[in-house]
Amino acid sequence: MTQVDTLEKTNTKSDTVTLIDNATGKQYTFPVLHGSTGPRVIDTRSLYSETGMFTYDPGYTSTGSCDSKITFIDGDKGILLHRGYRIEDLAENCDFLEVCYLLLHGNLPTKKEHEGFVFTIAHHTMVHEKLRTFYNGFRSDAHPMAIMCGVTGALSAFYHDSTDIRNPRQREIASHRLIAKMPTMAAMAYKYSVGEPFVYPCNDLKYAENFLRMVFAVPTQDFKIDPAVARAMDKIFILHADHEQNASTSTVRLAGSSHANPFACIAAGIASLWGPAHGGANEAVIRMLTEIGSVDRVGEFIRRAKDPNDPFRLMGFGHRVYKNYDPRAKVLQKSAHEVLDALGMQDDPLLKLAIELERIALEDDYFVERKLFPNVDFYSGIILKAIGFPMTMFTVLFAVARTVGWIAQWQEMIEDPMQKIGRPRQLYSGPAERPFLPMEQR
Ligand code: SDX
Repeated sequence: MTQVDTLEKTNTKSDTVTLIDNATGKQYTFPVLHGSTGPRVIDTRSLYSETGMFTYDPGYTSTGSCDSKITFIDGDKGILLHRGYRIEDLAENCDFLEVCYLLLHGNLPTKKEHEGFVFTIAHHTMVHEKLRTFYNGFRSDAHPMAIMCGVTGALSAFYHDSTDIRNPRQREIASHRLIAKMPTMAAMAYKYSVGEPFVYPCNDLKYAENFLRMVFAVPTQDFKIDPAVARAMDKIFILHADHEQNASTSTVRLAGSSHANPFACIAAGIASLWGPAHGGANEAVIRMLTEIGSVDRVGEFIRRAKDPNDPFRLMGFGHRVYKNYDPRAKVLQKSAHEVLDALGMQDDPLLKLAIELERIALEDDYFVERKLFPNVDFYSGIILKAIGFPMTMFTVLFAVARTVGWIAQWQEMIEDPMQKIGRPRQLYSGPAERPFLPMEQR
């Protein structure tokens, strides 16, 4: 039952807002819906039919697109909850597949449920052999995100038996396939870019360990997994798993609202995530830190970031929702120290530079007034670079982790009885109707 149904039975004045159109003097009353926590929402679904007007909110800064039970963010307090659990607690106490189960099913798994889920995912990690030849169509210098966009969409050509979105079992199989195969395809994208042979998944290994082995193992020697690195990789996956209605998740929901198959929807999400304003920021942070080069140049770049005439922005800083420290950045800052210590890279110049840049920025009025704090992308790149990933793989890793969030949000949308195809309207400011002019008269 949706809020609106319960509301009509118990509606009180405090559960409505009244709009006065000063052009006509007409008044319109709209319901106010209450979530379990967070801001109330004005139900404007009947606005156009009642008033002949649209809302106008190009960046959706004040628009709720759906009723969701998966992730809650309090941007002012810097709180992130997945199905009610704090991200800090999940990152500290769970493994990634445990968090995947939570996002997909709504509760943390029992030991038996966890074992069953791990077995299921492990037995979907291989990709069709023909997909391997798909990679050969790319230039060897293709950006791995370009490859991921292509091969993820191509999965729908291989797995027709799990593309009927009206069939719950097919939706479940497609979800498992995507979660299981993204690490394999991501590792293949890396191997292809460095000209090394693909490494098949190994079902005996945990998710993050399996991924690290597929990326870094070579046929000529045994691959030893550093537990500190594997734990950091797993934690990075957890911290990137889902994040409410961000740009790429909204892309997946909009693509899915037309009943496109899940593989195509996830490919759309990957494309959106690639942007440097979104998931591409982790790669952009390292490029920025490398360009800054040393602490004595930090001031110059802070000045550029503040200059309204300079397009440069401090990558890894700021967020549409967080107006406080991104809780994921705090966990990643701690993890960066742990990994670099474990790898004997305590004096990593990029980490030192990042810490100094953060200190200076957080003391600067420009950043303080605009509540610009480090976000999830500020420290993740430092860890990934220390582990040995090239910068071009950073957003690929974000996509591997975010796949479960995209799928959980997509499932929730498909199962929502109120779901309709997403079709925003506009404020039209183009030319009014005019007579056609044949070319000889123009
Ligand atoms: C992710 O949505 C999500 O949940 C995304 C994400 C997820 O998990 O899915 O959290 C992942 O995308 C994190 C964000 C990664 N992107 C970056 O780090 C790129 C750098 N950040 C900015 O591009 C920016 O902060 C955004 C895009 C993240 C947010 O932009 P908004 O909300 O549209 O804010 P804005 O552009 O309106 O900025 C408000 C003011 C402006 O100044 P004024 O016009 O008021 O003078 O703050 C300034 C901006 O110029 N500003 C910055 C800045 N970010 C905003 N100035 C310098 N450096 C920055 N990074």
